Amino acid sequence: MLNIGVMVSGGGTNLQAILDAISNGVLLNCRVSTVVSSKEAAGALIRAEKAGIPTKVFSRSSYSESWKMDEDICRHFKDHKVNLIVLAGFLSLIGSKLIQEYSGAILNVHPSLIPAFCGKGYYGIIPHVKALEYGVKLSGATVHFVEPEYDSGPIVLQKAVAVQEGDTPETLQLRVMKEAEWVILPEAIKLFSEGRLKIKGRRVEILEEKPV
Ligand code: GRF
Repeated sequence: MLNIGVMVSGGGTNLQAILDAISNGVLLNCRVSTVVSSKEAAGALIRAEKAGIPTKVFSRSSYSESWKMDEDICRHFKDHKVNLIVLAGFLSLIGSKLIQEYSGAILNVHPSLIPAFCGKGYYGIIPHVKALEYGVKLSGATVHFVEPEYDSGPIVLQKAVAVQEGDTPETLQLRVMKEAEWVILPEAIKLFSEGRLKIKGRRVEILEEKPV
């Protein structure tokens, strides 16, 4: 059984995509064992509670030093026997201890085709605002392994979404979520759970078959 710890900050539609993939049998031998939020008011917490999943809020403002929060988050995931962490709309940078302890076992979903429109400051609606300003014809989403820099680790899956005439940042954001994020995030978790992702430097090899 793969125990997934999901980190959230917002509405939790990506968390919902994971929960749906588990309940409809797309993700086998997986469960979300805890949901961690950086914000008390995150709608994702309501989704988690509805699904009977233990939640915990780690708010930066209640810690004098960030390394202490990093340690507590790490302990929380260990206590819940988490073996894969998924950042699903999580808006903060995660700590170095967590990255070390869960090296090669943290996935993030980002709403652009990395390396475009990513990095520090590119969160929420901003990648879509910038993509439209730039005039790209294609945007999309990326699932990647997490390294210390924002949006920097080896790429697992990407899916392109066409920009349409008259798109606003909001319409593009919604289409990228529906057509790309909610599709490739569960898919990447499935590949991870089947042991089919091999990190080789900057590249991720996807094995055809589950290793025996
Ligand atoms: C998504 O576009 C995610 O990629 C971004 O925040 C948005 C909202 O995510 N980082 P969610 O509804 O909270 O999953």
